[in-house]
Amino acid sequence: MQDSNEQVRQLAAENKALQGEIASLRSAQQSATETLQARLAGEKANQESQQRFQTIFEQSKLGNKIIAPDLCILKVNQALVTMLGYGKAELEGTRITEYSHLGYVDHWRELQENLWTKRIPSFGIETVLVTKEGALIWCRVISFLFADGEDTLGYTILEDITPRKNREKVLRQDHHRLQQQQAVLKTVLGAQEEERRRIAESLHNGMGQILFATKLHLARVEATALPGQQSEVHQALEKTRQLLTEAIVETSRVSHELVPLLLKDFGLAKAIEEFCSRFAGTGIQLQCHCFQERISSTLEMAIYRICQELVNNMVKHSDAARGRLEVYRDRDYLYIEAQDNGKGMAGDQVIDTTRPEPGKGIGLSTIRDRVALLEGKLEIDATPGEGTLISIRLPPTARRPHLERALCWLMF
Ligand SMILES: Nc1ncnc2c1ncn2[C@@H]1O[C@H](COP(=O)(O)OP(=O)(O)OP(=O)(O)O)[C@@H](O)[C@H]1O
Ligand SMILES: [Mg+2]
Repeated sequence: MQDSNEQVRQLAAENKALQGEIASLRSAQQSATETLQARLAGEKANQESQQRFQTIFEQSKLGNKIIAPDLCILKVNQALVTMLGYGKAELEGTRITEYSHLGYVDHWRELQENLWTKRIPSFGIETVLVTKEGALIWCRVISFLFADGEDTLGYTILEDITPRKNREKVLRQDHHRLQQQQAVLKTVLGAQEEERRRIAESLHNGMGQILFATKLHLARVEATALPGQQSEVHQALEKTRQLLTEAIVETSRVSHELVPLLLKDFGLAKAIEEFCSRFAGTGIQLQCHCFQERISSTLEMAIYRICQELVNNMVKHSDAARGRLEVYRDRDYLYIEAQDNGKGMAGDQVIDTTRPEPGKGIGLSTIRDRVALLEGKLEIDATPGEGTLISIRLPPTARRPHLERALCWLMF
């Protein structure tokens, strides 16, 4: 009886120990399951992230590639394949410098040095690549570093910017052409101004002085006239004196018109006012107005010449009763407006003024040239029988020092 009790106690103790073992096995199994689940979840997340990267890399409209520190191409996407015309297998494993235009290989060396040696996190270049067909394409390249296990690789995005570069080239050519045209104009108009100056000088110093001296000599002729002829001589001399006075005034007017001294000393407003006042009593009632402030002498001269031609044209051609010349400015531009209520112009007459033709006037086409040179805008609004309005808008040259220099040559 005692033995069987002992056996029951032992069994109970063994049973308890077994229960303990089972519990600890269960808990070990539980934690192993949890670790496994966590690892699986990590791998899944990793896989998903890889897939996301793969999709972005492949679907990108821009050329994408991964390069090693020696510029060896490890992976390319479809856009880059299309851009360069080579197959994926042809590109992967080769160096990007093999597709560079010879003159631009240094760009890639620069990129390599900045990324891997200087450790700049991202670096960009604009460079030229050669496609399989031998065409040259301009690319904007941006590269940045990323860690891949032990290695540091370069992720490179390439954008084809050939259309933009072509547009820039056309713009540069246009600019160059414009500069050449400006140089020709500069020479032509410069020679014109020089000629005006020379003629004005000889009119003033040569012809003016001779006429004046002749007038003085005439007084002596009258004093030496024979008795009986004095009245006749007096009359002839009076007429001659009158004619000479007119000749002197006219010579002085032409000389001033050629080189406007008032302009230099007193500015545009005074010079224009004086110029317009000469037409008082010619049949056209002229109203002229100009802002008072002084501006650069070169621009003053250019505007003066333009106004001179516009007013001369009104007086010569328009048969108008009234004319208006206004020169004004706002914060951004200078404006010239010449308007008359005369006979106006036919459409083809307006078009004719865009180019000088042999035997025809050059006034309006010279204005066009000057306005173009100053990078301004000219508009003619003229209908037969309804008068003419010519509007000009000029940028102030202070903001354009290169034009200021060109004009210095031109206007004096
Ligand atoms: N205000 C105007 N009203 C009517 N016709 C005009 C006016 N301005 C110009 N024209 C016409 O335009 C033409 C061209 O003018 P432009 O100034 O180029 O030459 P022009 O005055 O005839 O000669 P130039 O100026 O060389 O002495 C003139 O011949 C005239 O027929
Ligand atoms: Mg004219």
